[in-house]
Amino acid sequence: MTVDALAGAAYIVAALLFILSLAGLSRHESARAGVAYGISGMTIALVATLALSVAGGWGGPGATLGLVLMIGAVAVGAAIGLWRARVVEMTGMPELIALLHSFVGLAAVIVGWNGYLSHGEIAPELAGIHNAEVFIGVFIGGVTFTGSIVANLKLSARISSKPLMLPGKNVLNVLALVAFLALTVWFVIDQQLWLLIAVTLLSFALGWHLVASIGGGDMPVVVSMLNSYSGWAAAAAGFLLNNDLLIVTGALVGSSGAYLSYIMCKAMNRSFLSVIAGGFGIAAPTAGEEEQGEHREITAESAAELLGSAQTVVITPGYGMAVAKAQYPVADLVAKLRERGVDVRFGIHPVAGRLPGHMNVLLAEAKVPYDIVLSMEEINDDLAATSVVLVIGANDTVNPAAAEDPGSPIAGMPVLRVWEAENVIVFKRSMAAGYAGVQNPLFFRENAQMLFGDAKERVEDIIRAL
Ligand code: TAP
Repeated sequence: MTVDALAGAAYIVAALLFILSLAGLSRHESARAGVAYGISGMTIALVATLALSVAGGWGGPGATLGLVLMIGAVAVGAAIGLWRARVVEMTGMPELIALLHSFVGLAAVIVGWNGYLSHGEIAPELAGIHNAEVFIGVFIGGVTFTGSIVANLKLSARISSKPLMLPGKNVLNVLALVAFLALTVWFVIDQQLWLLIAVTLLSFALGWHLVASIGGGDMPVVVSMLNSYSGWAAAAAGFLLNNDLLIVTGALVGSSGAYLSYIMCKAMNRSFLSVIAGGFGIAAPTAGEEEQGEHREITAESAAELLGSAQTVVITPGYGMAVAKAQYPVADLVAKLRERGVDVRFGIHPVAGRLPGHMNVLLAEAKVPYDIVLSMEEINDDLAATSVVLVIGANDTVNPAAAEDPGSPIAGMPVLRVWEAENVIVFKRSMAAGYAGVQNPLFFRENAQMLFGDAKERVEDIIRAL
């Protein structure tokens, strides 16, 4: 059997393992197996690709050097990847993922340029297709590259998460797309270097603008959308490198990422098309930053008294619980209250925290029983009959403006209706806005009281007082 045939068979096995991996990752019980399938598929793919390269064009004195360089690059990349995976905090995962997507985009740009600068003999009838592949690959890669960098900067709070509102932003995006189509046709006819430079710069600018124009509240969708773009960028690179596995893998990532974005848009009542078009049709926010009245404060001791006499308690955790690592004392508090006969449950918003399932993972880590952890839909109708809601480090996901203020940037996003409860205690360090940069009228409601300070310390204070 030839190396070509063996590698082809290995690619099919790897592609099947990637499909099994995606299926495994869709449920937490099978997620570990999903990761194992993915790693096995990637190992097989790397070995097969190395074997193909050595057997293929690498005859002659350069072969050994090429092999050494390739293995060296894989070893360095694997070492950096292992180190980052070990040290990354749970709260830093989305920005790390965004950074990884930017690498896929950059790789697609480089592969595209390589396809232009050093391709072998191309049959004249295939030259047009090759040139279109170069151009499209560079474009998708460039949009993914800068878009992911902006997402990384926004998610790590190095730039503001507020949407950039350039005048005529939708027209700019449409013009960029029209320019791309015109340049592509031109390049297929006449392969001038400046056209490739122009499309590279255009894609960088468009990627930057698309993601910069999207507000903080829509960032979860942006991350999965960039995931999808990175898949299409990889598929484009696969066409150029003539690598079937890269095409299949890219298409799998591209389509699953697009589907995830669609599910998230539905959960957040957002228009899918409007988000992928860089906030197309979303008006500039009209809600101000100004405070909306007087807020009241509560001490940990009074909070403990209120909890001690409550019949039903619902805890709605958010990003602040993750930052404070408060899940462990929260689990202790829940156990203590349940011992006293208080009915305690959790209400989890689908985008609480910074990655899908963030709160569920933290609570599972702290061994909170699964059966008291409910989703937003399951808990929302019970909130009006709840004695005390503890909002622990959540903000946007419990903001009444989403339901009541049509001018708010998060208008229409389903939220946990905590303000309907008898009492609400909000754990946070200041009156600062949440991730979407929107002031929260909940803090000024009659039935709401603020418990300022680090969430972990305040929960521990309550446990002591209990
Ligand atoms: P956020 O709106 O992000 O608010 C978190 C709150 O936690 C802040 O108001 C902050 O107030 C408080 N906080 C931070 N550190 C704290 C600490 N150590 N102790 C006590 N409080 C602390 O939270 P959320 O309700 O979970 O909403 C999530 C937001 O992130 C949404 O806008 C969502 O769209 C976005 N997002 C979500 C995802 C996914 S997939 N889940 C991905 C990207 C973006 P102080 O600073 O005053 O303490």
